[in-house]
Amino acid sequence: MNDIVDDLSNAAASATMRLTTPLKAFRVLVRSDIRPFYDDKRLQQLVLELLGRYGIWASFETGTFRGDTVKWVAERAPGVACWTVEKNYLYYLYAKMRTMRANIVLLHDDSRRALKKYLRQLPTPVMFWLDAHWEKELPLKYELGIMRDSGTLSVVLIDDFRHPRMDLGYDCYNQVEIGAGLVKSVLPDVQIFVPSYKAPRGYAVFFLSLPVWVPESLEST
Ligand SMILES: C[S@@+](CC[C@H](N)C(=O)[O-])C[C@H]1O[C@@H](n2cnc3c(N)ncnc32)[C@H](O)[C@@H]1O
Repeated sequence: MNDIVDDLSNAAASATMRLTTPLKAFRVLVRSDIRPFYDDKRLQQLVLELLGRYGIWASFETGTFRGDTVKWVAERAPGVACWTVEKNYLYYLYAKMRTMRANIVLLHDDSRRALKKYLRQLPTPVMFWLDAHWEKELPLKYELGIMRDSGTLSVVLIDDFRHPRMDLGYDCYNQVEIGAGLVKSVLPDVQIFVPSYKAPRGYAVFFLSLPVWVPESLEST
């Protein structure tokens, strides 16, 4: 009898899990207030300047969520192939409906697997917006390793990055913070730049196999 009760309660728990996970994701989808580059006009301007100055052919965003940022870039840079990858199927489907544009390639996959598979196929230089960190996951170190090994000419932007001198907000997962230490552990020689102004959120910019350009909105770490 006890076994039957256990089985029933396990089945009920598993059915609840199966229902609550998509419900939770749906709530996040509807309630989140994510805007393209935080509506940070200086960051948005910087992105457009980098696209033009480096003659960027493709952009690659890790972590699509609702597709707001990829849509913003694709609308302003119609000649750039805008790739983006999302692992959550509900977010992927939602973004798919919102990003039906000829220059957007939306993938449903893990960012590491997608980078490994497609990075070498992209026309270069490529601009990256690394933003696939959420809940418990921080694939950033692996993403950077794949980019380093590919030798792709790249302008790299990382979201939620710890500014060494200003309190702009950043992310930390299992005591690993998104900051210079993490990037340098994969790319020891890279010069990292952060906002020189009070941005709404921390971010970083660096260049791989491309000349360094430092506009007024950036300063060295
Ligand atoms: C902060 S949100 C991205 C916001 C989006 N870049 C924007 O600017 O609108 C992070 C997203 O990354 C996704 N994500 C987390 N880990 C991932 C991984 N390993 N591969 C692909 N997507 C991932 C999450 O499901 C979530 O939708």
